Amino acid sequence: MKQIHLHVIDSTNTYAKEHVAQLASDEITCISAEGQTAGRGRLGRHWVSPVGVNIYATFCFQLPAHTLHLTSLALVMASSLATVLIHEGLHPKIKWPNDIQLHGKKLSGILCEIQFIQETAQIFLGIGINVNMEAEHLASIGQPATSLKIETGNVWDKNEFLQKLQNQFTIDLGKFKQHGFAPFHDLYENLLAYRGETIRCFDGKKHWEGICHSITEDGQLNLYLPNHQMHIISSGDLY
Ligand code: BTN
Repeated sequence: MKQIHLHVIDSTNTYAKEHVAQLASDEITCISAEGQTAGRGRLGRHWVSPVGVNIYATFCFQLPAHTLHLTSLALVMASSLATVLIHEGLHPKIKWPNDIQLHGKKLSGILCEIQFIQETAQIFLGIGINVNMEAEHLASIGQPATSLKIETGNVWDKNEFLQKLQNQFTIDLGKFKQHGFAPFHDLYENLLAYRGETIRCFDGKKHWEGICHSITEDGQLNLYLPNHQMHIISSGDLY
């Protein structure tokens, strides 16, 4: 994997998109930064990105445009991070589609952007992980959030942690290229937050309420509705 580490930039995803022509087309480039002035979250939200304390990284690579389950790549990255956290002795949950939680609070978010150029999908898989962020910064996030430091009481080496994630994601991307989301389904579903509980979800058009039931083979959410029908949500946000 190629590495580009920068000091403070607007957003690693934005930077990656602007410099994609200079990046290797046959391997992953991981662009990381010490801080972001315009960190972007899903659904147009802002990602709080103070300098020097957290991981802000974008994994850039190309896949054939027809790759199986391409839209589930963010869930693969969520599985990679969960695997690393489990190896560290922690107990992560995944809030569908790709938030990683510790003790019900958000530790990490993933923003996957894909550009299609003829038969090629150019992937910009951005991840933010709250590593050594203090409670005062966490309080400025508009939802319950946490960091590895808050959860464990220890200061973490963010470079070492990013290296572990890079190693795990390299393995997982290899599996994904061969088998799509299938190798990740069981781990992902076992870590699913709110499973069996009533949740609400906005799919971009409509609000749904039902029981968080399970995950389809390609990473969509099975919501069990009050009328006893199963409804599949392909993209959206739980709230
Ligand atoms: C979300 O949960 O809304 C997704 C957050 C993604 C944040 C990361 S930080 C690195 C990369 N650069 C960005 O601007 N966003 C992603």
